[in-house]
Amino acid sequence: MDTRRWTEVDGYFNGLLVAADPALEAALAASAAAGLPPHQVAPNQGKLLHLLARVRGARTVLEIGALGGYSTIWLARALPEGGRLISLEADARWAGTARANIERAGLADRVEIRTGPALESLPRLEAEGLTGVDLVFIDADKPNNPAYLEWALRLTRPGALIIADNVVRDGAVADPGSADPRVRGVRRFTELVAAHPRLTATALQTVGEKGYDGFLLALVTDE
Ligand code: DHB
Ligand code: MG
Repeated sequence: MDTRRWTEVDGYFNGLLVAADPALEAALAASAAAGLPPHQVAPNQGKLLHLLARVRGARTVLEIGALGGYSTIWLARALPEGGRLISLEADARWAGTARANIERAGLADRVEIRTGPALESLPRLEAEGLTGVDLVFIDADKPNNPAYLEWALRLTRPGALIIADNVVRDGAVADPGSADPRVRGVRRFTELVAAHPRLTATALQTVGEKGYDGFLLALVTDE
């Protein structure tokens, strides 16, 4: 079993289940042309995020880590009329690419890309009155995942979903002695999720065109 086989299987399912979409394909092309790292979610993963947002009936979505706006488009397309998505991006160039991709997808009326370190944008959003977020997608610098979890909990309401990308990283997450700050961030994040009285969660390993990685999903409960 290798990446080639995984990619063939992604191709099989995507060919049947994930419709070709000019705006998403243009976003990938523009991101590659701008030299962004190819770290966006795969098409079937983007559709998973989209479906989860729809199942949840999410009206307010917060994304931490926009990159070129690819997952942003998937999530924004799940919003009902009047819905809103705010996506945070530390890199001004990447944020510019994301804005252009969102505009091309016809979603600029419901998506805001905020430039700057997420840990600076998050307190500002709270001060501006952001509350009742229905879905948070955490996909930025992994060492800060524990802090992003705290912010996700402050800004969400019961019934919200918190989703984190890249929680497996080729299996490195299972190494308690890892010195990699990204792995340590994901492990600490997972331990905080596990210990939190208002969260119930699971994590899944994934393979595919993005290699071997995974998602963590947590539901915010009342108690
Ligand atoms: C990296 C970050 C991501 O969000 C991702 O999906 C893949 C890789 C990284 O920083 O290496
Ligand atoms: Mg990611």
